[in-house]
This record gives sequence, structure tokens and C-alpha cells, in this order.
Amino acid sequence: MRIFLVCFVAFISLINCQIPPFTEECVDNAYPPPESRKVPSYVVNLDLPAAQRWTHVVKNKGPEIKKLLDEFKSFISDIFNGSQAIVNFIDKEGPAFDETLPQPFADEMRGIANATGLKLGEIVFFNIFYEFFTVCTSIVAQDPKGTLYHARNLDFGLFLGWDIKNNTWAVTELLRPLVIIVDFQKGGQTVFKSVNFAGYIGILTAIKPKLFTLTMNERFNKDGGYIGLMEWILGERTGQWMGFLTRQVMESASGFLEAKVMLSNEEMLAPAYFILGGNKTSGLYQQGCVITRAREFVVDVWDMESANGWYILETNYDHWSAPLFLDDRRTPAHHCMGNMTQQGVSIKGLHNVLSSRPVLNKLTTYTALMQVDSGHLEVWLQYCPDPCIPW
Ligand SMILES: *[C@@H]1O[C@H](CO)[C@@H](O)[C@H](O)[C@H]1NC(C)=O
Ligand SMILES: *[C@@H]1O[C@H](CO)[C@@H](O)[C@H](O)[C@H]1NC(C)=O
Ligand SMILES: *[C@@H]1O[C@H](CO)[C@@H](O)[C@H](O)[C@H]1NC(C)=O
Ligand SMILES: *[C@@H]1O[C@H](CO)[C@@H](O)[C@H](O)[C@H]1NC(C)=O
Repeated sequence: MRIFLVCFVAFISLINCQIPPFTEECVDNAYPPPESRKVPSYVVNLDLPAAQRWTHVVKNKGPEIKKLLDEFKSFISDIFNGSQAIVNFIDKEGPAFDETLPQPFADEMRGIANATGLKLGEIVFFNIFYEFFTVCTSIVAQDPKGTLYHARNLDFGLFLGWDIKNNTWAVTELLRPLVIIVDFQKGGQTVFKSVNFAGYIGILTAIKPKLFTLTMNERFNKDGGYIGLMEWILGERTGQWMGFLTRQVMESASGFLEAKVMLSNEEMLAPAYFILGGNKTSGLYQQGCVITRAREFVVDVWDMESANGWYILETNYDHWSAPLFLDDRRTPAHHCMGNMTQQGVSIKGLHNVLSSRPVLNKLTTYTALMQVDSGHLEVWLQYCPDPCIPW
């Protein structure tokens, strides 16, 4: 049986009876995970016409994308008291939504709809969901030699179908099989690499080898989240999709500083945190920062040197205010970073921090680890067996 709850408080009392207590921990033996947690890689050729770029990636994924969509739709119809109207509206109006989107994204979605046999409206809808539900932890850190690493957990699916029998989130479970590495190429050369969900064309986690690394975390605030989603569905469409902005940054920014400017200036559909790592640790400016965005403007840019010196860490709360007490992954993450020390900064060390509960939780779909100079990106699916906190 699955239920949808949009109220934290009702949810807590439910969860408290469901889940054995967990303890915070800093694990030191989670790396390397078993081979079975690796994810497949695909090349997406940016020289192809947009409608053909994703065909080989998604052609066998139609049924899996469909299952996830059904889950999103039941969430939406739940918000509207079980009404199917909004869902029908999305299916019917989807092609019209697509007309309002910039190229090449509109054509890429058309190609994906064609290749999966799903409706265009459904693919558009599948793509917009990530703008609003990405609850995460991102870290940029440098080792004592000044080598920069950037790592993240992607936690997704809060409120999207808690499965009482399995103690899992339906959407998180459905997402894991869709996690892929995408190598975006031009002229046969890698431009950048990202971690995506098959069928999603925006960017949440990516590396431009030798130049910079980028992750995006959701920022909840009054003018964001569900309100932005509803406004967009209902036709008020000012602002850029976050996922398209990040993709443009990955495709066209020539370095850390240009990426920082691009991420600060565009109006967006929803607020966000952009966590950006560069390729430089010596000199006056270390290149690691968290850009806190409102929809229309940049609220704050926080640099690694003023954060901690050797790392900067962001979950889903403004760094100058306390996290929601129900969802404090930040304090445990800092605790485990401190325990690891700068000597321990490495792919392995960061993977261990991100595998420590509650930084690791039931919403965690994957951990991504990047090293900018070598262009290294590795990704592991994550699971959090009980006892484990739901978010
Ligand atoms: C849809 O895909 C088929 C082949 O699978 C192709 O022949 C056709 O041109 C595509 N249609 C569009 C609109 O891209
Ligand atoms: C719940 O777990 C059972 C057995 O492990 C499995 O068959 C079922 O598909 C799971 N349900 C979901 C929604 O993941
Ligand atoms: C580091 O990035 C800058 C652009 O921000 C670039 O000009 C430079 O070549 C990069 N350094 C290396 C070693 O690739
Ligand atoms: C730090 O980690 C070690 C294991 O590497 C553990 O034994 C120790 O208790 C941890 N310390 C703290 C303060 O968590």
C-alpha cells in the first residue's frame, strides 16, 4: 500500500512507528562498492540533429519512464484531491508546452517521445519534475596537495509515494534503474560528462574536464518549489528551466568564472543552489563556491575560503541559517568531513562521507565523485537499508 502525504508532521508520527531508530555514523569502509552498483554510460553526440541525439539512450527505457511518470501524476492528482483534470491537462497541453521551450531542448524532447512511444506532454512533464524535488548533499574539497574533488549525493522523491511495506520511496526506487553517465561529445571529443536519469535532458551533476564541475541542489523557499511548478503548468512561464541553464553552462562556459556569472544572472523557474568547483586552488581565489539563487536574482555567493578553507558543503538550506530540524544532514556531513580530515580527501574518503547515515538516506539514488584535472567521473547507485532515515 502506498500513501501520499504532503504534511511533514503527520508523516513523522507515521514514520516513528515504522522505522527502528538509527544512529549517526561516519563509515570508513563503504568504498569501493560492489560492481553491481555501477551505472551504464552513453555517448550523446551534439553534432546530430537534436531529435536524434537521445534515441539510443532511451529506446528501451519507455516502460520504466512510464512507471515513474505514473507516480509523478498520482502525486499531482493527489495535490488536487484526486482530480484527474490536471493530469489530462498535462497530456493534452504537453505539445503546446514544448512549443514554448527553447531549442535544442524542444526537439530533443520530441525525439525522446518518438523513441519511447510516450506522449510529448509526458516527456515534458518528466523533465520538469527535477526542477523541484532534488534534495541533496554536495561537497567541493581539496586535498593537502591542492587537488580539487567535487562529490554529491542525489536524493530524490520526497513525498512521492512512501511504501509502507518496503520502507522505501516509490520514486526513488523507480529512478535507480534510470541512472546513467552521459558523455556529451562534439567532433568526437568530450565536451562534458554528466550523470542523468534516462529521458531527462537537463543537468544536475556534471564535469567539464580540466575546467570545472557543477552540481545543483534544490532550494526550498516561499516563492519556489510546488508553487513554481503549478504556475508553470498553469501557464505562467517566465524564467529559464534550471536544467537547461546548467546544460548551457556545461556546453558553453570556458571556465569557472564564466560559469559563475552565467549561473548568477538568468531568471529561473525555481530557486536553487549551484555548487561550482573550478580547477585552481593556489593564489588568491580558490575555486569552489555555493551560489544561492532566488528565482530572479542571486542571493549570495559563498566561497570555499570563507566556508572552511579546505572544503565547502551544501545540503538544501541557506548556509547562513540553520537547517530544518527534521532534516539536518548538514551537521552530520560536517562531522564526518571533520573526522576524515583534509588528509583523507579523495574519491574514497568523500564516498565514505556520502555513505554515512543520515547523509545517506532512503531518498539517495546515487553518489557521484569527480576530479576536475583528470576529468574523472564515477557514479555508484546507493541504497540505505534499515535502520535508515527516510530523508
Ligand atoms: C520517429 O522515429 C522514426 C524512426 O524510429 C523516424 O523515422 C521518424 O522520422 C521520427 N519522427 C520524428 C518526428 O522525429
Ligand atoms: C516491495 O518489496 C517487494 C519484495 O521485496 C517487491 O516485490 C516489490 O516490488 C516492492 N515494491 C516496490 C513498490 O518497490
Ligand atoms: C583552468 O581553467 C582556465 C579557465 O578558467 C583555463 O584557461 C585553464 O587552461 C585551466 N587550467 C588547466 C590546467 O587546464
Ligand atoms: C572518526 O572515525 C573513526 C573511524 O575512522 C571512529 O573510530 C571515530 O569514533 C570517529 N570519531 C568521531 C568523533 O566520530
